[in-house]
Amino acid sequence: MGNSSRLSTRLGRITVVATALASGAAWADGLTPIETLGRSMFFDADLSIGRNQSCASCHGPEVGFTGPVESFNEAGAVYEGSVAGRFGNRKPPSAAYAATSPILHFVLERANNPIKAEALFVGGNFWDGRATGERLGNPAADQAQGPFLNPLEQALPDSACVVQRACSASYPVALADVFAGACDVTWPADVEAACSIDGGVVLLSASDRARVDQTYDEIALAIAAYEDSPEVSGYSSKYDAYLAGLVALSQQEKRGLNLFRGKGKCANCHTLDAGPDGEPPLFTDHTFDNLGVPRNPDNPFYGQSLFNPLGANWIDSGLGAFLASRIDYQAYAPVNLGKQRVPTLRNVAKRPFPGFVKAFGHNGYFKSLKGVVHFYNTRDAKPTCPDLFTREVDALAQGCWPAPEVDINVNVSEIGDLHLTDAQEDAIVAFLATLSDGYFDPAGQ
Ligand code: HEC
Ligand code: HEC
Repeated sequence: MGNSSRLSTRLGRITVVATALASGAAWADGLTPIETLGRSMFFDADLSIGRNQSCASCHGPEVGFTGPVESFNEAGAVYEGSVAGRFGNRKPPSAAYAATSPILHFVLERANNPIKAEALFVGGNFWDGRATGERLGNPAADQAQGPFLNPLEQALPDSACVVQRACSASYPVALADVFAGACDVTWPADVEAACSIDGGVVLLSASDRARVDQTYDEIALAIAAYEDSPEVSGYSSKYDAYLAGLVALSQQEKRGLNLFRGKGKCANCHTLDAGPDGEPPLFTDHTFDNLGVPRNPDNPFYGQSLFNPLGANWIDSGLGAFLASRIDYQAYAPVNLGKQRVPTLRNVAKRPFPGFVKAFGHNGYFKSLKGVVHFYNTRDAKPTCPDLFTREVDALAQGCWPAPEVDINVNVSEIGDLHLTDAQEDAIVAFLATLSDGYFDPAGQ
């Protein structure tokens, strides 16, 4: 972490105290100065190599901070980076509630029986947990350092470029207002040019480089603070209003809630319980599972020969692949291949207008919540489609499901053959629609 005398970050809701603005006075719209700064950077397209892409390009508020472009969602569900023609390999999860995830760790299940003890991984950000939170004390802050420099996303060649552009921007709350000295760097004359080309290098003195590294940490903390602010993680859905006793759920929504908890087993992973300090439910237990989601035939990564030498044979091994990259976790990799992080379901149904197509699952295979619920219900009850690469719409029409993208470690104990009726599937979908923020104002009620 940058400067522990000025910053104190704790798990859960991030609290960052900046002496420069120690009053913590809320900005006009209810955000604190650091949250306001984080918001400016979240929406700033100049913080990309082509000055054409911000975090919000892939995490739009109108869709619950996930992918806002319908044409992408309908197909590969993977978003194009700042450099045209470059695509990553996964669907953007929601950036809301990301800061509530604990630092990646494992707990030993069945620890009373050492022979059978299994390591259950919990926390982190990204589908595979690789933004662990070990560096900055919160996974969302570790995460925020990735996209700016990812060649498939904002693609700036050097963290110094992010700092230089954020320091030259005219934000309502400037970086140096929140983090004293954050912009005290002597920039080389060619910094603009160096930051506009792939592989560009910004030459700095050792002390300027150290300052840049610290400021890059502070940028990440500010973005995570914004993601944790009431504007992004609002706990303002109809379901929150219902928990607060302010509104009743409809008959169908109530049936959906009961099925979510009971016969559908959804709450086994998408937790309905309050958090340790009485926080509202997050709809995730931050663990990882392989649901056997099929390949998304339209994933553009299959065709990214420069970044994906395996082509159509590439499979997404999720948590297991990340664990394999860590000496301390390597031994746990095989049993975690194919597992992806349980996403929050808050805002899963949020869309700018009815009928707007969103994509679901780590690779965006599903295009409707009904399709997701039908998959949980019938994955093991229907025959396997002959073609591995069968789109959701065709699988539904043919009455089959394609084989899983990763066919080991698939969870067969909780999902796959739930015996839900069509009306029960619809009720669960209706319940999911009560999780969209913006229904009421928890502060002003
Ligand atoms: C080109 C699209 C794109 C851009 C730009 C982008 N993201 Fe993402 N974001 C993604 C994808 C894809 C993932 C999932 C990647 C993975 O799991 O490997 C992701 C994951 C995340 C997550 C993890 C959420 C979770 O629950 O694990 C957060 C938080 C996030 N992004 C915030 C940001 C921020 C902050 C920025 C700007 C600094 C940003 N993103 C820029 C596409 C994008
Ligand atoms: C065993 C744990 C588990 C259970 C039980 C479970 N889920 Fe999930 N859910 C996950 C995981 C893990 C993912 C991500 C899987 C992937 O993309 O590969 C997920 C993804 C989803 C998504 C996609 C969200 C997004 O943002 O892309 C929805 C919607 C969803 N689940 C709803 C439900 C519903 C409804 C039920 C009950 C019928 C349910 N889940 C039961 C673990 C679970």
